[in-house]
Amino acid sequence: DDSESKGQPLKGKNVLISAGPTKEAVDAVRFFTNHSSGKMGYALAEVAKQLGASVTLVSGPVQMDPINGVELIQVKTAQEMYEAILERFDDQDMVIKAAAVADYRPKNPSQQKLKKKSESLVIELERTKDILKTIGEKKENQYLVGFAAETDDVLYYGRQKLDKKNLDAIVINDIGNLNVGFQSDDNEVQVITKTGQEKSVTIRSKHEIAQQLFDIFIEDMMGEAK
Ligand code: CTP
Ligand code: CA
Repeated sequence: DDSESKGQPLKGKNVLISAGPTKEAVDAVRFFTNHSSGKMGYALAEVAKQLGASVTLVSGPVQMDPINGVELIQVKTAQEMYEAILERFDDQDMVIKAAAVADYRPKNPSQQKLKKKSESLVIELERTKDILKTIGEKKENQYLVGFAAETDDVLYYGRQKLDKKNLDAIVINDIGNLNVGFQSDDNEVQVITKTGQEKSVTIRSKHEIAQQLFDIFIEDMMGEAK
């Protein structure tokens, strides 16, 4: 078929993208979260749809409008994101984990609002499940992409995560450079693939970065299929 020449190389493919932060309750009114805006994940979902894919977007709480024609699954916690993704994983051809998932959550969140008492307070945290590592272990034919935000030894840690989580590609945000990443509209990223490619995509809008990233993933995916 000629869907590739029509600019729809992902026609017939199921692509799942996770975006945004997670939110972990401390008590009835308080929570732990992070600065992820969801912009990168939403840009990826939009581009995947333009490329012809059937797109599922699993999103943490963000200030972003839903995307026409993209199935939106809204979650709050790392555990809810884990369940939403695991349920749908087997049907996917590609999974991109752009979400900033909490590594820890309060161990015993209080149902009531905590009252202030002592001069200092210790909140015990427990680890959340590593979603990407779990699907990396289950992976059959899915093309799996992770994101990593690093402040130092960016490529070294990126390669380690690519390996440890059994990924096909990892996109690394150098957040040591404070003008880009997280909240901003612009971004600069490095991509490493399992096949040994290393590419950097310089500052552009997140939409343009998403387009370039898909160029890299699709070329890499097609190469592997040969
Ligand atoms: N990730 C995930 N589940 C978690 C934590 C992270 O799926 N519980 C995913 C993120 O969505 C991202 C990738 O793993 O795609 C890398 O996240 P990052 O925070 O950079 O790495 P961690 O493995 O959590 O290691 P650390 O935070 O210690 O650097
Ligand atoms: Ca982490």
